[in-house]
Amino acid sequence: MCELSDCLETLSSGYVLKFPEPIMRILLAAVVAACISATATFAAPDPAPVAANPVGDPKAASSDDGKYFDANGNPTYSIDKSDRVDWYTFSGYRRFNGSCEVCHGFDGSGSSFAPDLTQSLKTIGYNDFQNIVVNGKQDVNTAQSLVMPSFGENKNVMCYLDDIYVYLRARADRVQGSGRPAAHEDKPKTAIQNENDCMGP
Ligand code: HEC
Repeated sequence: MCELSDCLETLSSGYVLKFPEPIMRILLAAVVAACISATATFAAPDPAPVAANPVGDPKAASSDDGKYFDANGNPTYSIDKSDRVDWYTFSGYRRFNGSCEVCHGFDGSGSSFAPDLTQSLKTIGYNDFQNIVVNGKQDVNTAQSLVMPSFGENKNVMCYLDDIYVYLRARADRVQGSGRPAAHEDKPKTAIQNENDCMGP
């Protein structure tokens, strides 16, 4: 914090006054300018409150034919005591390593040109995740150009978007390690039906 009165005190101290006259004037201008901008910063209105974590608590609050949802109604994983995962987490593991692994590295742990999704998914919630995968993302601010392609037209991804999401969510929460899940629940009827509807004949 820098008050104008503190600055003027600094200026009147013997140390600063030892400088020759022109340098003094430059110093005076610089210190006063710094103070004014600092004061202005502190006088600014309070920023908007930080939004609640978009990721939310991953704990399963409900389920529907083998698909699990958190308290916000977003898809989540279920892993029992013997490390058996729900069908969708297992399916997501396979789909991720079929369509995304080439850039994001084995099991999402990142590469030199695409981010570590086991970190990203700690802060990217379900809605943002869907938006990025459907529409792609391009970081124009970095020296190298980073391009996440859009998968909106790719059925191998779109038909399994929730599967990929819950798998990565489990990876980010460190409850699913690298590699194939040890065991999984049977494929639910709903998953078979949705897959047929989505992928077509
Ligand atoms: C051709 C390489 C490539 C493929 C394939 C790819 N990505 Fe990406 N992805 C990227 C790059 C590069 C970025 C960083 C873009 C940026 O920072 O603007 C990215 C960013 C992301 C992000 C945002 C991460 C963050 O921290 O901002 C998510 C989520 C993501 N990808 C998910 C996926 C999923 C899911 C798939 C598979 C369906 C996939 N990606 C396939 C290259 C790829």
